[in-house]
Amino acid sequence: MVTSYTAEDIRGLVDAGIALTSELSLDGILLKLVDVARTQAGARYAAISVLGDNGEISQFVTSGISDEERAKIGHIPYGKGLLGVLLHEGASLRLADLAKDPRSGGFPPNHPPMKSLLGVPVVSRGRIIGNLYLTDKQQAEAFDERDEETVRLLGTQAAAAIETSRLREQLESLARLQERERIAMDLHDGVIQTVYAVALHLEDAADIVARSPQEVGAVLDQSIENLHQVIKDIRSYIFDLRAQVSEVSDLPGAIRELAESLRVNTLMDVHVSVDERAAGLLEQDQALALFHIAQEALNNVGKHSHATTVSITFEGSSAQGVALAVEDNGAGFDTSNRAGREGHGLRNIKDRARAMGAKLTIDSKPGIGTRIIVQLPAARVKGLAG
Ligand SMILES: Nc1ncnc2c1ncn2[C@@H]1O[C@H](COP(=O)(O)OP(=O)(O)OP(=O)(O)O)[C@@H](O)[C@H]1O
Ligand SMILES: [Mg+2]
Repeated sequence: MVTSYTAEDIRGLVDAGIALTSELSLDGILLKLVDVARTQAGARYAAISVLGDNGEISQFVTSGISDEERAKIGHIPYGKGLLGVLLHEGASLRLADLAKDPRSGGFPPNHPPMKSLLGVPVVSRGRIIGNLYLTDKQQAEAFDERDEETVRLLGTQAAAAIETSRLREQLESLARLQERERIAMDLHDGVIQTVYAVALHLEDAADIVARSPQEVGAVLDQSIENLHQVIKDIRSYIFDLRAQVSEVSDLPGAIRELAESLRVNTLMDVHVSVDERAAGLLEQDQALALFHIAQEALNNVGKHSHATTVSITFEGSSAQGVALAVEDNGAGFDTSNRAGREGHGLRNIKDRARAMGAKLTIDSKPGIGTRIIVQLPAARVKGLAG
């Protein structure tokens, strides 16, 4: 049957659609949806129930009923009676007087009286995941076919919102799981192997102490050194885990924190020279990229260089552009990568520098040290404000 919408109805639905896209939380979206459904169908009350994995109502959002009234009613519906018809049989309901329907289970004490009812199941991929219903049509005895069509449409939007929110939750928990597995694997392959080796050495020490006490000293020294290495590894691992940020509002401060953390974790002599004004020349994504580059360069210094001194410089002007340099006096390495040792770190540094149009210099001499410089040309930075 053809249903006619007035221009005003359509505008209302379009506005509702736009309003929904501005909401991110599922609760917020459902709240808007019940409000729109109630207004569009001219009902006094509206509600959406969402079923949880166990088939029971896990979320119940209402419109037209005050918080006090809701508190008086008590527990959210159990999904029996007429709600059960919507939830379990997947049928729509349109009744002039719900109390007269034999399937009605009646209301709990303190529930406001309700007469006419319009309810639709909320269905996603063939499964009922909730329902959307309205009661007490204003200005008429009962809801009509047009109301039903509108509410069905909004029910489809609710289904999409619920599914999206569930998928997002699943993705987040998958990412968490993967992260946990990665940490477990890293601990197993790294720290635990070293600690295990130390334990074996100490067992040896216990065996040889009686027959050759002078040898024990060397074994103990080696074990102590290995344990110190483990402590260093764990520290730099924690440092890696912590510093995953997606925004840097204060790059000079963030660089100082990285430097401080390196100083505390490695006891290196860390020099920082940061030009506060240089940060004002950067866009947010440039600041973030430079932060990540500094972070990885310093990670590498901590992990590989065995340096005694490291210096970090961050400076710039609108005429010169912006430069970040990290320099250490450690072991250095073969930058031609003949040994094929490039890990993710250096590759990411190169990718980030290229993506932001910066010049990257990696200068390393075995036995002398390593210097990494990222230069963002003047053309790529903002002019100084003021
Ligand atoms: N400052 C440094 N001093 C000495 N060697 C370095 C320095 N920076 C990098 N290297 C050498 O270059 C190699 C590649 O570094 P890269 O950051 O790409 O990988 P990684 O640090 O080994 O692993 P990842 O960063 O993926 O965790 C290192 O394994 C190390 O041998
Ligand atoms: Mg690295």
